[in-house]
Amino acid sequence: MDSLKFSTILLSLLSLAIITQAPDPKYLTRLCPNTTTFTSNSTYQANLNLLLSSLSSNSTRNNINGFYNVSAGKDPDEVYGMFLCRGDVSNSVCRNCVNFATKDVLEKCPNETVATIWYDECELRYSNRNFFSAEYDSPIFFSNRYYVTVEPERFNQLVAITLSNISTRAASAPSGDKKFAVQQANYNMQILHTLVQCTPDLSTPDCRRCLAGAISKLGNCCDGKQGGIVIFARCNIRYELYEFYNATAADEAVPAPPPVALSPPPASGSETRRKGKVDNALFNLSTSCIHIQFILTLVFRNL
Ligand SMILES: *[C@@H]1O[C@H](CO)[C@@H](O)[C@H](O)[C@H]1NC(C)=O
Ligand SMILES: *[C@@H]1O[C@H](CO)[C@@H](O)[C@H](O)[C@H]1NC(C)=O
Ligand SMILES: *[C@@H]1O[C@H](CO)[C@@H](O)[C@H](O)[C@H]1NC(C)=O
Ligand SMILES: *[C@@H]1O[C@H](CO)[C@@H](O)[C@H](O)[C@H]1NC(C)=O
Ligand SMILES: *[C@@H]1O[C@H](CO)[C@@H](O)[C@H](O)[C@H]1NC(C)=O
Ligand SMILES: *[C@@H]1O[C@H](CO)[C@@H](O)[C@H](O)[C@H]1NC(C)=O
Ligand SMILES: *[C@@H]1O[C@H](CO)[C@@H](O)[C@H](O)[C@H]1NC(C)=O
Ligand SMILES: *[C@@H]1O[C@H](CO)[C@@H](O)[C@H](O)[C@H]1NC(C)=O
Repeated sequence: MDSLKFSTILLSLLSLAIITQAPDPKYLTRLCPNTTTFTSNSTYQANLNLLLSSLSSNSTRNNINGFYNVSAGKDPDEVYGMFLCRGDVSNSVCRNCVNFATKDVLEKCPNETVATIWYDECELRYSNRNFFSAEYDSPIFFSNRYYVTVEPERFNQLVAITLSNISTRAASAPSGDKKFAVQQANYNMQILHTLVQCTPDLSTPDCRRCLAGAISKLGNCCDGKQGGIVIFARCNIRYELYEFYNATAADEAVPAPPPVALSPPPASGSETRRKGKVDNALFNLSTSCIHIQFILTLVFRNL
């Protein structure tokens, strides 16, 4: 009897663990300058709702490579919107993130005409202006609050060079495919993780240009910082001293790069093999899952 009770408790623990396996996306930043707002029940609000539901429903499609852009309504109340999921996330994580974002953005940016919201897993934005045209696209910055303490100048250089190198790789993907690349490099006993991504519809030169623009802005946010993000509508770059993407999934999402022998700038930074190192939080989760399952098996064997 006791062990039955025990196993019931464990069963509920297990289902809890399964539920938390689809966690909310991890919110990082947003930009919704409250200089323009729309009024309740306006045409703009109706169009925005239409747009958000269109983004949400289209995120369930399988052949979109994590990207969708759409507009709703007519000038002057037209709303433009898009989402872009990180290149290595699965369709279900992407869908989950976009769904969450369409609701979250209305809470974090209430009544705002223009908004961009950014999570680890995806980005969602909308505007009354067509941000796909460069004139309305200005970068959004986000950075790790910590600084590197050893050779910050060399670190900046390593970041910029690694990001530039993978930009070429990401940009060369055929139009419509994921334009995405990640790379690790050694820095002072630590591992630098870098990522670049363009929307799949960009041409190779446009993608390369967009990424070069983003890299050139690193000084505006991220000088000597342990991590940083530069976000344009059409492309984004990110680096951290921890693995913020799933390297295994990244390898599967885009063709593996040809192995290159990298000789880094002046001192010791150099390429390391991109190796699937499991993300900490999820690793915690899966170990505890396995743990509970293991205990359950023991309990049932003893019944
Ligand atoms: C924007 O937000 C700031 C701070 O929350 C507030 O003081 C200001 O009144 C807001 N402006 C508008 C136009 O809502
Ligand atoms: C948004 O608009 C509604 C209706 O006009 C209003 O009640 C609410 O206070 C507004 N929220 C913000 C944050 O301005
Ligand atoms: C918006 O429309 C709803 C339902 O039609 C109504 O209850 C509400 O009072 C309206 N709000 C404003 C600010 O007009
Ligand atoms: C996708 O968006 C289009 C509008 O762009 C809409 O007509 C369609 O219903 C949406 N949903 C799906 C699943 O395609
Ligand atoms: C999506 O963006 C492209 C520009 O790359 C544009 O030509 C197209 O019209 C956009 N689609 C919608 C539905 O706005
Ligand atoms: C990383 O991706 C691989 C391949 O898609 C997957 O099997 C693995 O579970 C993922 N790891 C985490 C921590 O999500
Ligand atoms: C980047 O690529 C250049 C040329 O291919 C190479 O010389 C350099 O070592 C590479 N650096 C890094 C950090 O990947
Ligand atoms: C869980 O992961 C966090 C980092 O996300 C780490 O600091 C912590 O030690 C881990 N806990 C366990 C029990 O592995």
